[in-house]
Amino acid sequence: MKVWLVGADGQLGQSLIAYFKQNSSLLSARFELQPTNKSDVDICNSDSVSRYMAMFKPDIIVNAAAYTNVEQAEIDIELCREVNLVGTSNLTNTASHHNIPLIHLSTDYVFDGESISPYLETDDTQPVNTYGETKLQSEKLINEVLKQHLIIRTSWLVSQYGNNFAKTVLRLSKQHSQLTMISDQQGCPTFADDLSATIFKLLMAIDAGQADWGTFHYCGSAAMTWFELTQQIWDEALQQKKISSKPEVVAISSEAFAVQANTKALRPKYSVLDCQKIKEVWGITAPDWTCSLKRLVEKL
Ligand SMILES: NC(=O)c1ccc[n+]([C@@H]2O[C@H](COP(=O)([O-])OP(=O)(O)OC[C@H]3O[C@@H](n4cnc5c(N)ncnc54)[C@H](OP(=O)(O)O)[C@@H]3O)[C@@H](O)[C@H]2O)c1
Repeated sequence: MKVWLVGADGQLGQSLIAYFKQNSSLLSARFELQPTNKSDVDICNSDSVSRYMAMFKPDIIVNAAAYTNVEQAEIDIELCREVNLVGTSNLTNTASHHNIPLIHLSTDYVFDGESISPYLETDDTQPVNTYGETKLQSEKLINEVLKQHLIIRTSWLVSQYGNNFAKTVLRLSKQHSQLTMISDQQGCPTFADDLSATIFKLLMAIDAGQADWGTFHYCGSAAMTWFELTQQIWDEALQQKKISSKPEVVAISSEAFAVQANTKALRPKYSVLDCQKIKEVWGITAPDWTCSLKRLVEKL
């Protein structure tokens, strides 16, 4: 099965490529991975997308490309819409035209965060920022055009790749004696390597004939605040002797942080995803978070 991985240079894209290489004895017999980055194929350019399809004829598309800078999206509204809507539309149309499936990544930020229990796939969506709004619209257009799709909503991606919260707090711990962290937003951190394992499990099942298309939630197994995640990363880093001491961490509300850092994007206060459906339909569960945290910090 030829798998076109779009967004190869991103955090998830890099993790997927590394996962494929690390498990090549199992995976290379079944899959040919065809990664492309923005300079290979700009997904906003429909001719470029069509040309790639005609030339390489993939059997499935995994779309890890997106505009993901939540704060900057409030300024670069048009670019965010272009990548997340026009880009997704081009991939969806070409998948439909060639009758192949699309695995697309989406986000917990399609929800408004007013729930008090984990969000189900069927719960009402109501994004509170531009990024979330464009990701929700991307889901809707896939749903309208392409039956053979998996939309995987995930949350708080962390890894050794790209720019992400885990790398940032570990770096900051070496530079500061005190830091403030938001303590009133709750979500589930997801180790990108766990998400990569999940995507390859889905690909193997699809290759074997499973076709339970639709929207699924997948995230790390523990809910926490950014404040708590910071402490967990530092505690694990201390344990692994990656740092010799940790700064004092001071809790701050979202509102106070927005004033202090002059941020524009609102974020849901609670975006814990219920992952029961992917377990029931595809037999996939996230590993225990403490194991993921340990493996994450080892790689940071
Ligand atoms: N990061 C999170 O916390 C998080 C949480 C929930 C869901 N997700 C979703 O998970 C997926 C992967 O996220 P990620 O963290 O891996 O994102 P990422 O690190 O920002 O990677 C996205 C990649 O897409 C590329 N891209 C942007 N515009 C493109 C275009 N026009 N054509 C081709 N490629 C383009 C980017 O290239 P440039 O950098 O060169 O622009 C980048 O390499 C996304 O769908 C995201 O919405 C992420």
